[in-house]
Amino acid sequence: MQYNPFSLEDKTILVTGASSGIGQSTAVECSKMGAKVIITARNPDRLQETFEMLHGIGHQQIVADLSNEVDIVNLVDRLPKLDGCVNNVGIVMTKPLPFYKREDVDRMFNTNTFSIVFIVQQLVKKKVLNRNSSIVITTSAGGVFGNTPGNGIYDMTKSALHSFMQTAALELAHKGIRCNSVNPAMVNTRMAEPSGSISEEQIQLDKKRYPLCRYGEPKDIALAIIYLLSDASSWVTGTALKIDGGRNLVR
Ligand SMILES: NC(=O)c1ccc[n+]([C@@H]2O[C@H](COP(=O)([O-])OP(=O)(O)OC[C@H]3O[C@@H](n4cnc5c(N)ncnc54)[C@H](OP(=O)(O)O)[C@@H]3O)[C@@H](O)[C@H]2O)c1
Repeated sequence: MQYNPFSLEDKTILVTGASSGIGQSTAVECSKMGAKVIITARNPDRLQETFEMLHGIGHQQIVADLSNEVDIVNLVDRLPKLDGCVNNVGIVMTKPLPFYKREDVDRMFNTNTFSIVFIVQQLVKKKVLNRNSSIVITTSAGGVFGNTPGNGIYDMTKSALHSFMQTAALELAHKGIRCNSVNPAMVNTRMAEPSGSISEEQIQLDKKRYPLCRYGEPKDIALAIIYLLSDASSWVTGTALKIDGGRNLVR
């Protein structure tokens, strides 16, 4: 067999937020590296689309709304033993401080932060994670390496996750379970499309602030996640891996 320290052969990996963007690319790349993949998201049609893109056999798809604790419990109850878990679910909201509403904050924290805290808790309590498993969390450069006006709620959800990632790394190390995060700046997914709060012109201007002159592609993040899932990173835990085309080097 060819030497490949990044291989995911014989590993079973859960990928949340797998119906599009970074999660979809991660699921596909994990399958190409030999993993059996369990994918989950809310939208059954988009999830099926990802499922059809997976290489190899033995994969599984489970529709779930992870902002809802009942769905989290049901999802975890249906899982086989895992060697890796990519917690990638997330939504964005752009809103300046005077316009925050309590329900905005609740919705953002339920989806971006509490979903991940409670999935990891359930996986640990129900002993779903094998020894030497790897947990990866998609946080963000925003909220960890810098903050952006208008992104306060999103950034708070991600900095809370950053803190959780480090605590989980400490508490699970004795079981041989590692926990790390990937922290992307802007990546070309649905999340980075022009919307009511950001125009195409603003996006083009923003791209010029990146030393590598472009936004990331989902695969740029997926391949970093592969490293953190693989045995190549077996001495890495509690690390926030900034992947930002150099954006946070410049003001
Ligand atoms: N794109 C960027 O510029 C960027 C930068 C930094 C960090 N990130 C982070 O990267 C992660 C992936 O985002 P993306 O850019 O790939 O965006 P995306 O294409 O919108 O993907 C988000 C994923 O989360 C799922 N999701 C959302 N709410 C959910 C819920 N309540 N329950 C279950 N699944 C849910 C979506 O699927 P359904 O709609 O089918 O449920 C989708 O699969 C997020 O955590 C995001 O914060 C993105």
